[in-house]
Amino acid sequence: MTPPADPTSLAGRVAVVTGAARGIGAATAAAFAGAGAAVALVDRDADAVRATAAAIGGASAAWTADVRDAEAIASVMSDVVGRFGRLDILVNNAGIVRDARVANVTGADWDETLAVDLTGVMACTRGAVPHMRAHGHGRILSATSVVARMGNFGQTAYAAAKAGVIGMTFVWARELGRHGITANAVAPGFIETDMVRGVPAPVVEQMIARTAVRRLGRPGEVAAVYLFLASDAASFINGAVVGVDGGLLL
Ligand code: NAI
Repeated sequence: MTPPADPTSLAGRVAVVTGAARGIGAATAAAFAGAGAAVALVDRDADAVRATAAAIGGASAAWTADVRDAEAIASVMSDVVGRFGRLDILVNNAGIVRDARVANVTGADWDETLAVDLTGVMACTRGAVPHMRAHGHGRILSATSVVARMGNFGQTAYAAAKAGVIGMTFVWARELGRHGITANAVAPGFIETDMVRGVPAPVVEQMIARTAVRRLGRPGEVAAVYLFLASDAASFINGAVVGVDGGLLL
């Protein structure tokens, strides 16, 4: 009996991963490339994204762009299609945190967090969808957070943006499913990246104590979920919010 083709392969697929210079985005780009996809790594940090793409090698390439710049993002999507011929997968991973308790949230911090974590996700999706529609296949995967569902001290703006990502994901799942495009969100707990390295040690210890597996997650453990959701193995998963949190949200 001939074994079925590997449903987790991304051979022939083209993916855009934002915030791909480091952390979860870099791990996801590497996982996708390892599964056979051509990967466009997008980040505002030009040197770092070039270095990460070079380290991954294969059919990967770096683009420097800020997700807050909708025009630049639209042209990245067109460039990617020009270079690789199509666009199948978008991972809306770029994100920032600007922590402050509610009374101390500045207008600038609020605006920047929403601009990157919410409006940036919208801009990238809007830029990618026409290219996915062109060949009737697409996977939109967006980074939300456990914080959208359980709150966290000092994260008013971040929680607002990440909860907004969940809402947009539900809309896109309904709007685009009929066109062969699915939309899902991934909600990590506390993952060992630069973002969490910026959190005070006692807060991290507290989060580890509340996490059933009693440790931080690794970027590769989130990348593995993006890989599965991007693949044909997840073809009937649409409008899901997949937790990757070691049992923090229980
Ligand atoms: P990170 O801080 O290690 O890396 C984020 C990357 O995004 C950086 O390379 C940065 O240059 C890029 N970036 C930031 N703003 C950008 C912009 N405006 N345009 C283009 N690129 C931009 O972050 P990490 O930890 O890898 O997180 C990735 C995503 O996962 C984020 O959306 C984050 O909110 C989310 N997440 C992370 C968790 C964690 O514990 N690390 C937990 C839950 C969610």
